Amino acid sequence: MKRLLNSPLASTAIMVLGLSLGGLFNSASAQQRNIPLDQLKSGLAYSSDEVRGLQLDDDFSSLSAHGIDKGAQLWKQVAGNSNKSCESCHGDVTESMKGASTRYPAIDKATRKLFNLEDRIRSCRQKNQKAPNWALESDELLAMSLHVNTASKGMPIKVKIDGPAKQHFDAGEKLYMARQGQLNLSCTQCHDQQYGRRLFNDKLSQGQPNAYPIYRLDWQYLASLERRLRFCYSSVRAEVPAWGHVDMRNIELYLKWRAEGLPLEVPAVRK
Ligand code: HEC
Ligand code: HEC
Repeated sequence: MKRLLNSPLASTAIMVLGLSLGGLFNSASAQQRNIPLDQLKSGLAYSSDEVRGLQLDDDFSSLSAHGIDKGAQLWKQVAGNSNKSCESCHGDVTESMKGASTRYPAIDKATRKLFNLEDRIRSCRQKNQKAPNWALESDELLAMSLHVNTASKGMPIKVKIDGPAKQHFDAGEKLYMARQGQLNLSCTQCHDQQYGRRLFNDKLSQGQPNAYPIYRLDWQYLASLERRLRFCYSSVRAEVPAWGHVDMRNIELYLKWRAEGLPLEVPAVRK
């Protein structure tokens, strides 16, 4: 897809897709579900047989084993001025973190900011463990979020969008519906109105966020949801927000609300 989306040919194809959609675009009112809950499908359902086979095959765990092992190891590693490991404070990950990943992004009480899981881990690392922080998209952070995800494997996504989260949800929904970039396409046009249709060799999925971080075959490594979203931004030639920008968190909140009830896939692979 990367190669395809970067070619002028792909731009033309996407533009045609966009033009054929012009009349279909409808502005959704707040909290209207464009895809009813009983029709939600993980991206896995739209993946090629090869990718699906990989993820469903137990041996696939060997592909992302490196990340999972690394996360497990970091969980036990003493670090920083607290002289503690994640485990010293939290204990066994499967118990202490059960369901945690299904609830993010969520408002952080101390800063009143919207944190996704990676932000939460980073904040704990800095504030509680008092250790040098991990950069967004670093190997350590991706490995740790995968490790924390293992405690919620198969559990349904359920985020809160009321109270202080409401304004973030509204902003995320707006971004999701807005046409952007040189191709003038919105997320909803591809992922609500065209899923199941082919774009070259790939089938468009519903753009669900329930499997991240994923192992990406194109990159041969783990990738966060934010990285995937940045890719979608670039594919419509839109300006990509800075890493960790609140726009990205707002869209993530909207996507997680939209995915309510979808089980968390751990580990997962995508093309
Ligand atoms: C031109 C069509 C297009 C637009 C517009 C677009 N995407 Fe995508 N998106 C894709 C393609 C192609 C993929 C990779 C194959 C797939 O999962 O559909 C993808 C993948 C994704 C995925 C990963 C799905 C999975 O199962 O791993 C998410 C999440 C996503 N997009 C969200 C968004 C959001 C949010 C926006 C708006 C900012 C957006 N996309 C805009 C084409 C688009
Ligand atoms: C000194 C104790 C301490 C250490 C060390 C520590 N944490 Fe925490 N963690 C906490 C406390 C207290 C909270 C609850 C509120 C907060 O953020 O301060 C928390 C909350 C969390 C949450 C949110 C859980 C939820 O249910 O929403 C995650 C995720 C987390 N920590 C991950 C980690 C990881 C990963 C590490 C190691 C890199 C780590 N923590 C190290 C004390 C600690």
